Formats: sequence, structure tokens, C-alpha cells
Amino acid sequence: MSSYAITGASKGIGLEYVRQLAADATNTVLAIVRDPSSSGISELASSLPNVHVIKGDVTDPESILEAASAAALVTGGKLDVLIHNSNAVDMASMSLSPTQLPFDAQEIRRIFDPPFSTGIYGGIWTTNAFLPLIEKGTQKKIVHISSAMADLDLINTTGISYGVAYSIGKAGMNVQVAKYAAELAPKGIKVLALSPGWVDTWEGEKPPEVVQAESVMLKQFQAAEPALKGQIKPEESVRKSLKVIESLDAKTSGLLLSHNGNRGTWL
Ligand SMILES: NC(=O)c1ccc[n+]([C@@H]2O[C@H](COP(=O)([O-])OP(=O)(O)OC[C@H]3O[C@@H](n4cnc5c(N)ncnc54)[C@H](OP(=O)(O)O)[C@@H]3O)[C@@H](O)[C@H]2O)c1
Repeated sequence: MSSYAITGASKGIGLEYVRQLAADATNTVLAIVRDPSSSGISELASSLPNVHVIKGDVTDPESILEAASAAALVTGGKLDVLIHNSNAVDMASMSLSPTQLPFDAQEIRRIFDPPFSTGIYGGIWTTNAFLPLIEKGTQKKIVHISSAMADLDLINTTGISYGVAYSIGKAGMNVQVAKYAAELAPKGIKVLALSPGWVDTWEGEKPPEVVQAESVMLKQFQAAEPALKGQIKPEESVRKSLKVIESLDAKTSGLLLSHNGNRGTWL
């Protein structure tokens, strides 16, 4: 009988968190989305009375404060687990390595802004807005969905030099998580950065260039994990991640862990 709030719950991994958590009818699940009428979440919520869809944009502090107030009305002012999952990237520059980034102040800010606004600033505003609810909750857990793309050993082993802004954004998120964990430990609040694995969240048919890019990535990832066959489904990622969240305690607070609950098998 726990309460959960998930940001970026409209699709992909966020939507799957809502689906799996709401399967336990005793849970209260707050799906924070930018557009409550978006098809995936509105269809799911219409069939599950324990899912509450709340409008909230993590890049807008007023919006996320309003979302936390709306959440408090549903739960009686408390929350057990906050999962900050929202993310945005500039897809056009994802394939660039650091030496290919532009000598243009405006353009480089445009490239770095989406992951920073959602992951870093959004992570601060979401955490701070929901903190009063978490303090009154029983589990007292805050989880930020990060990425192994920010793990230095994985970068060095695979030689992946692209995805610069995305990876730096997630690396910043990991430090931010450690700072929150240090500050909030005396209140019994645990904070975790959690990598979901390599997950297929593409909607619809993949264009040939995406298939090609994924096959290149697979070979690079296999340098770190030779047995890797490809992407996992959101179902597997979230099922395993929920076990990691369940076992989150004061000892693992502040870390980046994989969906396998370790710092070795990331994919
Ligand atoms: N898929 C993977 O292989 C993988 C690997 C490592 C880490 N991750 C991380 O896992 C998380 C989920 O990934 P995913 O593949 O499910 O991503 P996704 O399908 O792109 O979904 C991203 C979610 O973030 C939301 N979002 C974007 N901008 C937002 C904003 N300003 N405010 C609130 N929500 C916003 C989107 O909502 P809208 O519908 O409103 O745009 C969407 O629900 C992300 O943090 C991602 O970095 C994924």
C-alpha cells in the first residue's frame, strides 16, 4: 500500500512504471505528464482507478509546484516514492563527438539545454517540490532515471564518444543525486540514480538510419558486455528496476546503479 509519482509518464519507461505499479490495486500511482490527454496514459488511467494523471512540466518550476500540490490532494499530503524520469535531447546533434561541437555560443546552449532542463534543473525542481510529501511518506525514496552513458568505465571500454550533451547531463544528474543523498540522509530519505539498461522505447516502425545506428551501438556495447544481444523491453527494465528501488537503503543512497542492481552489468 504505497504511493508513487512518476514524471515523464506519457510513454516509454515512465508509462511502463505506471502500468506495473498500478497492477497492485493497493498502490496509488501519480502519473505526471505534460499533456494529460496523450493517448497512452489517458487510456491506461481510464481503466485503472488507482492511476491519477497530473499535469506537470519538469522544466517549468511553477508547473511542477502545481503538480506537487495536486498530488498532495490525492494522497493526503504524503508520498512514498518519487521517480524523476523525464528527459529530452536534441536528436540532431546526438551523433556528434566533442571535437565536432560548434564554435557558436547560442547553438551549443541549444544542444545542451534539453538534457540540462529536464534532467538537472528539472531534477532539482521536481525533488524540491515533492520533498514535503516525501518527508511525510513511509518509504522516503527519490529515484532519478539516469544512464550508463554517464559511466566513465563504460565510455572508456566501448569508445562511445557521441551523445555528449546527453551523457554530460546524466553525469551531472549523478552528482546531484549524491548531493541530495548527503543532505537528506539525516531525515532518512534515500536518493538513487538508476540506469534502466538499453531499452527499446521507439514508437512505431524504426527508420533505416535508426536500425543502422542501433547496430553500431550494439557492437560498441558488446566490447563491455560480450553476451549482449540487443535492447530489452520496457517490461523487463522496469520489473528489474522496481526490485532495485525496493532494496534501496541508506547504504546504496547516493549511488548510480543499473537495473540489475549493480555497477557492472549496465546493459
Ligand atoms: N531508452 C533507453 O535505452 C534509455 C537508456 C538509458 C536511460 N534512459 C532514460 O530513461 C528515461 C526514460 O527514457 P525513455 O526511453 O522512456 O524516453 P522517452 O520515450 O523519450 O520518454 C521521455 C519522457 O520524458 C517526457 N518529457 C520530455 N520533456 C519533458 C518535460 N519538459 N517535462 C515533463 N516530461 C517531459 C516525455 O513526455 P512528453 O510526451 O510530454 O514529451 C516522455 O514521457 C529517460 O530519463 C532516459 O534518459 C533511457
